[in-house]
Amino acid sequence: MTSSTHIFLLLLLFVVSICSKSTSFTPFKFEEATIADIQLAFNNGKLNSSQLVMHYLDQISTLNPYLNAVIEVNPDAIDDASKADLQRSTDGMQLSPLHGIPVLIKDNINTHDKLNTTSGSFALLGSIVSQDAGVIQRLRKAGAIILGKASMSEWDNFRSLGVKQGWSPRGGQGRNPYPTADSPCGTSSGSAIAVAANLVTVSLGTDLDNAITCPAVMNSVVGIKPTVGLTSRSGMVPISPRLQTIGPMARTMADAVTLLDVIVGFDPLDANATKEASRFIPIDGFQKSLKEDGLEGKRVGILRHSFSNEYPKGSVEANTFEAHFQTMRLKGAILIDNIELKNVKIMQNITASGEVVALLAEFKLSLNAYLKDLVSSPVRSLADVIAFNNQHPIEERMKEYGQIVFLASQQTNGIGEAEKNAMKRMAQLSKEGMEDLIQEKSLDAVMFPDSSLSHTMAIGGFPIISVPAGYNNSGAPFGISFAGLRGSDATLIEIAYAFEQATKVRKPPPQLV
Ligand SMILES: *[C@@H]1O[C@H](CO)[C@@H](O)[C@H](O)[C@H]1NC(C)=O
Ligand SMILES: *[C@@H]1O[C@H](CO)[C@@H](O)[C@H](O)[C@H]1NC(C)=O
Ligand SMILES: *[C@@H]1O[C@H](CO)[C@@H](O)[C@H](O)[C@H]1NC(C)=O
Ligand SMILES: *[C@@H]1O[C@H](CO)[C@@H](O)[C@H](O)[C@H]1NC(C)=O
Ligand SMILES: *[C@@H]1O[C@H](CO)[C@@H](O)[C@H](O)[C@H]1NC(C)=O
Repeated sequence: MTSSTHIFLLLLLFVVSICSKSTSFTPFKFEEATIADIQLAFNNGKLNSSQLVMHYLDQISTLNPYLNAVIEVNPDAIDDASKADLQRSTDGMQLSPLHGIPVLIKDNINTHDKLNTTSGSFALLGSIVSQDAGVIQRLRKAGAIILGKASMSEWDNFRSLGVKQGWSPRGGQGRNPYPTADSPCGTSSGSAIAVAANLVTVSLGTDLDNAITCPAVMNSVVGIKPTVGLTSRSGMVPISPRLQTIGPMARTMADAVTLLDVIVGFDPLDANATKEASRFIPIDGFQKSLKEDGLEGKRVGILRHSFSNEYPKGSVEANTFEAHFQTMRLKGAILIDNIELKNVKIMQNITASGEVVALLAEFKLSLNAYLKDLVSSPVRSLADVIAFNNQHPIEERMKEYGQIVFLASQQTNGIGEAEKNAMKRMAQLSKEGMEDLIQEKSLDAVMFPDSSLSHTMAIGGFPIISVPAGYNNSGAPFGISFAGLRGSDATLIEIAYAFEQATKVRKPPPQLV
């Protein structure tokens, strides 16, 4: 070898070593990181769960004083993350895609750890739950890190009327990270805000009527309201197990579906509903519904009235939706325009549909059962909670808000004739509305702007997926929702994922501090 070749080889080695150093020192980009990005970095040794948790805890301490998205952080989160890191380095076995991934939990879902579960209220502070909620057991088994409790509208906005969305005595007023948006919406407000503002990777919300879908569209994130029963509701501060569901919130459909796959399934403590709905879970999970060509051949109905009611012709939003429809057609979707749901005005009126009558009675029954089941608690019944509010008028803003819904619920007396008739009415409206429409037009799904038809979908226990659709001229987010019959979750995922991939709407919020 000549000396010039030597020098050349040395130089080459030098350059190669610099290059490999510089790639291995490229800092991990936390903002908008997906679960897939994170798992890749875990596997490449560029990041571990402890670092990820510390990053999010830092972000929370910086941004939460403004956002009020998090009520409590888990004092064990860093320990749990180190354990996950250790397990990754020693275990040869296949780890779950949620292994080492931080998840924020809405404050009405029981965690049997140092975190309190309070539905945003001081009345439940210090109560001790008997065990983890069904979905939390599944998260822990998968190796997910419980990062903390998300703020929410107190008592799922079932205390009174006219209470500010995203407000609770324990969490304060949640703020939308997009400064020009009106509100974070509710009731899963903190779950949406935290994901939108990159305070966590993914979060859990709960939804009966609008509680995941509205915060999702308002904060420009993905929200999945699964078919009732697909996810267990055991260990959840309830309103009505007949209609309520727990679902994921995330920045991308893929992340939301990764979380969904972990939390679905049978739970002996919510046996009837989870057994009935377990037939809707695909054998290989929902992951395989994440198909780029998921819109191909799908028949999607445009609930036109809902679009024109919300956004006038010629507005940025209306024009954006038209462009999205065109994109969907180009991706092979068959859009059926100008369809109408029979009795939609009645279904959108929670008094006329029977929703209110049924929920008032169901709330008292199910809340009392939840409170009785606690190991210990300052309150043991709805009557106790009402008394607590009266005794704490300042924290509970009693002068401003009162508790008219609680009082109405307290006066109910179980499921009698009126409630049974209301339930029959809701079932009939859903049959003549969604079920007949979908069958007559052979639809896979219907779509509407934002979460505008949530009442209509709520009374049938129908699944909804909401995804970002755009930003108005002031920069406030808006969204689109896809809904279908019970059990159509896999189809909705195909549609919403392909829509997301074809439109790529989401932009992170501006720097807040
Ligand atoms: C995580 O990575 C950091 C930086 O490489 C390292 O200092 C730390 O020990 C790691 N933690 C665990 C639990 O592996
Ligand atoms: C739970 O509430 C108690 C007050 O009852 C408080 O001392 C504790 O710090 C709370 N837990 C967390 C994790 O914040
Ligand atoms: C954008 O939407 C927000 C509501 O989220 C509203 O307050 C604002 O007026 C809208 N701006 C425009 C230009 O339409
Ligand atoms: C579950 O279903 C059985 C059989 O239909 C019924 O007897 C029972 O009351 C149900 N349990 C609940 C909690 O709804
Ligand atoms: C909703 O229905 C109730 C009872 O049927 C009726 O009194 C009320 O006017 C309706 N509200 C609207 C906005 O139509």
